[in-house]
Amino acid sequence: MKSVIDILDLSVDELYQMMDVAIDIDEHPERYAHRCDGKKLATLFFEPSTRTRLSHEAAMLELGGSVIGFSGAQNSSAAKGESVADTAKTVSCYADIIAMRHPVEGASLVAANNASIPLINAGDGGHCHPTQTLADLLTIYREKGTLSGLTIGMCGDLLYGRTVHSLINAMTRYEGNKFVLISPDELALPDYALDALEKSGASYKVTTSLEDSIPELDILYMTRIQRERFDDPDQYERLKDSYSLTVEKMELAKPDMAVLHPLPRVNEISVKVDDDPRACYFRQCLNGKLMRMALILKLLDEAKDKEHKGYWEKGEVRTGGLCTNHKCITKTEQELDVRYYIADDGSRRCYYCDAVVE
Ligand code: NCD
Repeated sequence: MKSVIDILDLSVDELYQMMDVAIDIDEHPERYAHRCDGKKLATLFFEPSTRTRLSHEAAMLELGGSVIGFSGAQNSSAAKGESVADTAKTVSCYADIIAMRHPVEGASLVAANNASIPLINAGDGGHCHPTQTLADLLTIYREKGTLSGLTIGMCGDLLYGRTVHSLINAMTRYEGNKFVLISPDELALPDYALDALEKSGASYKVTTSLEDSIPELDILYMTRIQRERFDDPDQYERLKDSYSLTVEKMELAKPDMAVLHPLPRVNEISVKVDDDPRACYFRQCLNGKLMRMALILKLLDEAKDKEHKGYWEKGEVRTGGLCTNHKCITKTEQELDVRYYIADDGSRRCYYCDAVVE
């Protein structure tokens, strides 16, 4: 039985199968209305969310299941100091599957290793957000008819934007995709995401200008500057208005470029762009629910006959060292040893958050 912490936990074949299921659900919802009768989803949201929590919940309800959970750390025993591991062990007694969002990087992995039911990472700090990538993949597939041979611009907060990190991991697995990374220098991709891009051999370029790059794009993935992840509020103030996609800029783009955004938007896309047929972000929300339905079905089906064995091991994992990421779960969880794996460039990387271990 599997938990999904990273988009790479799902193979390319599994993703295609899930997209087929999602499209079938869209066309024939009645066929799926009782597939999860008697099953419970627990949504453990230690951070704010509209789409991710509600789409997981709608997904389970539309499959005939039910939902329990909380939508803020203050409403859970985390406010009393309970560890992520203990929460996961407890909720495993009450539900059949968990969707969890947490501000600390690697928290979902710790929870998955302690749960006895499948766990879906609904976002761990600035690290990963695999189910948003499911929404993104189905949107790209439905809008462009393919996941290959595309020039994909990613614009905004590439440092803290976890959806970008997961989408890069996903899209480098399809042939011929090119990436244009558009951000202020201070918000460029973190090492582990850049490493994944380098390792894939995909062609990419780095720029600060949206205007200059927009004409060549097939996909423009806009992101919000992630205020809650900045250590320095002045830096956020300086960078918060870095990009704005306007009707004028859309005129420079290809007639069939697709604009995606995981949402919520602040000011990085003018609301006037919403009327442009190339604006896909609200269709993306629907696709997110459909893919989460496909994922819940898959994980519960796999859980039927397999014992929970904890999460995958990222190759050989050793214990020791100090994670350099101050937002890593090893800094907050009681008695959690630092564990690391050796990355392709020879560096030691944290098993939980992929940052460098010293
Ligand atoms: C994203 C997230 O939470 O990372 N939102 C979402 O899940 N749809 C993006 C964001 O918050 O900017």
